[in-house]
This record gives sequence, structure tokens and C-alpha cells, in this order.
Amino acid sequence: MSNTMQAIQMDAFGGPEAMELRDVEVPQPGKGEARLKVAYVGMNPFDAMARAGKIDFMPISFPFLPGLEHTGVVDAVGEGVDTNLIGQRVISRANFGAYAEFSIATADMLLTLDDRIDLKTGCVYRGCSFTAWHALHKAGRLQAGETCLLHSAAGPIGIMGAQIAKSKGCTVIGLAGGPDKVEFSKTFGADSVFDYTQDGWVDQVKAATDGRGVDVIVDGNGKPNAAHNIGLLAPLGRVVYIGATAGDMPDPVDIPTLIFKNISVAGMNLAPIEDPPGSDTDRTIIENVASGAWQVPITEEVALADVAALHHRLESRQIMGRAVIRVGGDIA
Ligand SMILES: NC(=O)c1ccc[n+]([C@@H]2O[C@H](COP(=O)([O-])OP(=O)(O)OC[C@H]3O[C@@H](n4cnc5c(N)ncnc54)[C@H](OP(=O)(O)O)[C@@H]3O)[C@@H](O)[C@H]2O)c1
Repeated sequence: MSNTMQAIQMDAFGGPEAMELRDVEVPQPGKGEARLKVAYVGMNPFDAMARAGKIDFMPISFPFLPGLEHTGVVDAVGEGVDTNLIGQRVISRANFGAYAEFSIATADMLLTLDDRIDLKTGCVYRGCSFTAWHALHKAGRLQAGETCLLHSAAGPIGIMGAQIAKSKGCTVIGLAGGPDKVEFSKTFGADSVFDYTQDGWVDQVKAATDGRGVDVIVDGNGKPNAAHNIGLLAPLGRVVYIGATAGDMPDPVDIPTLIFKNISVAGMNLAPIEDPPGSDTDRTIIENVASGAWQVPITEEVALADVAALHHRLESRQIMGRAVIRVGGDIA
């Protein structure tokens, strides 16, 4: 095996052009670590945020290799790691460094990829379905028969959220930016999807609920559309904030408004509350993905050399669902 590999590296935070394809040394796994031959990497917004220096909850040092959510096959392990891991197909979601032929992962954080799920689907399905599930069911306490409103309904979390809510017997209303995204989003089962770039979407959502409002809202977009969430909630409704892709966090809601309108505002941060491997949640999600009952919205695949262009497209909102970066591809 060669001592060098191709990798995308950057020496300072910056735009997509800060990422360069280079020949670098193949990394060696240290104590408690495993090395993966990388198969596919999901184009997660966290990679674009890390590249731009907008992440403060994970350590980043230079030269930096982005690439967080990925699949691969373990090809070496460091001290203290079970050698039975070698050869296994795994999901890695806790360490950057996957824009490269080989990545290093904390072995304890690796998840075995179910035999029925391919490596490409594997790098995407877990993050978006777990986020949607925990936002809807845990933070939002969605009940059968209720109505939910999903911002960014053409994004991967919105699409998985729509399928999860439909399988609970709920009515799903989506919001998306532009007619193509509206059409794309509808193909995953939402009852109605409205274009929030057009005037009138607030009234359209109200009309779709006969004026009652929705029971649960999941919002990863933030300002400016979040300003309408309170007015769109039905009595005892819950809005769950999971992020602010559009740029700014929503304004705080005052307590008298919560009392007067009988509503709740929640936040959801997946990592500390994520149901573990083998849990009912994990089994349900794997079964639905493996059987094809829930479609994982992988819309395009690019080579490692094209990752800068992909970041540009993500940031100009041209991607629907989730794009993936093919590194080794279907290596197992
Ligand atoms: N809390 C948690 O535990 C957790 C975990 C994972 C992800 N998240 C958050 O969940 C949200 C959605 O994640 P995702 O992976 O589905 O996101 P994504 O694929 O990057 O984007 C989802 C959608 O955001 C919209 N958007 C609005 N403003 C944008 C902008 N300036 N640049 C790019 N897209 C923009 C786009 O839809 P439109 O054009 O239709 O608006 C896009 O389809 C993000 O805020 C993310 O940080 C939270």
C-alpha cells in the first residue's frame, strides 16, 4: 500500500476555494482509533460551516481536512481497539477528515452499517433521519393524527421528517424555496408544500389547516421566516428549533405570549439525546430505510476533486436532498 493518498486540505478558514486537492501522508490510527478506507461522504452543512470557521463546538486545527458524515471499511486499528473491527463496514459521524482516501475515527464512536444498507445510503440516512425523528417525536411530541409543518422541506431532514410523520399518521405541510424544491419535496409524501419565496404562504398554511394552525413545527432555517411560527401554531402547539441555515436565530418569544396562546417553544440538539444503536428508534429507522419504505434523498454524487464546486452549490441553495462525495465508492 502506498504511503500517500489524495485528500482535500486547507491551511486557513475560507471559501470553497480554500480547499485544495493534495497528495498527503496516509494517517496512522493512534490509541483508541480506527482507520477507514473512505467510501462516501455526505455533503453536510457542518463541513461548509467548519470550512468557513463557523463551528466552535469541535476542535479544528490546520492543515484541516473537512468531511464529517461518512462511510468506509476499517483497514487498520490503533492500540486498544478490537482487531475484529478490521474489514467491517462502518458509519463515522464524530470526526472530520473524510475528504480523503483514508480517515481516522474514534473507534468507540463508529457504528456498524446494517448489511442491507449500501455504503452510499449509509453516509446520509442516519444523521438526517435521527435528527428529524428526535425533533418530531422527542422534542415535538408529535401524536398520531396531528399536523406538522416542516421548514426546508426539500432538504434531507425535511424529507426524512415528512416520511417519519406520515408513517405516524400525521398530516404534513412543507415549506420550500422555489417551485422545483416544492415539486421535489412533494414526491416524498407531504400532503401540501408551499413556496415560501412567494407572498401568501402563511395564509396557505393556515388555509391547509382550516384556520386552526399546526400542532408541531420543525424549523432549521431561522430568520426571517421563523417570525411566522408563533402565529401558525394551533392551541397547545409546539415549535422545535434545530438550527438557522438561513443565517440568524429566531427572536425570543416572551412568556405572556406562550401563556396567552397556549404554546411551547423548544430546541433540539441531537447528540446528547440520541437513542443508541439497538434502540427501538434505531431499529425502526434501519427497517424503514433498508426496506425502502422511507426513501433517503440522495440527489447527486460528485468526485473528491469537485468538492469545492459542490460547496458553492450548497451555499447558493442549489442542492435538493443530500449530495454525496464519492471517494472509494462501493468498496465492499
Ligand atoms: N439540532 C441538531 O441536532 C441538528 C442536527 C443536524 C442538522 N441540524 C440543522 O438542521 C438544519 C437542516 O439541516 P440539513 O442538513 O437538512 O440542511 P441543508 O441540506 O444544508 O439545507 C436545508 C435547506 O436549508 C435551506 N436554506 C435556507 N437558507 C439557506 C442558506 N443560506 N444556504 C443553504 N441552504 C439554505 C435550503 O432550502 P430552501 O431553499 O428551500 O430554503 C436547503 O434545502 C440545519 O440548520 C442544520 O444545522 C440540526
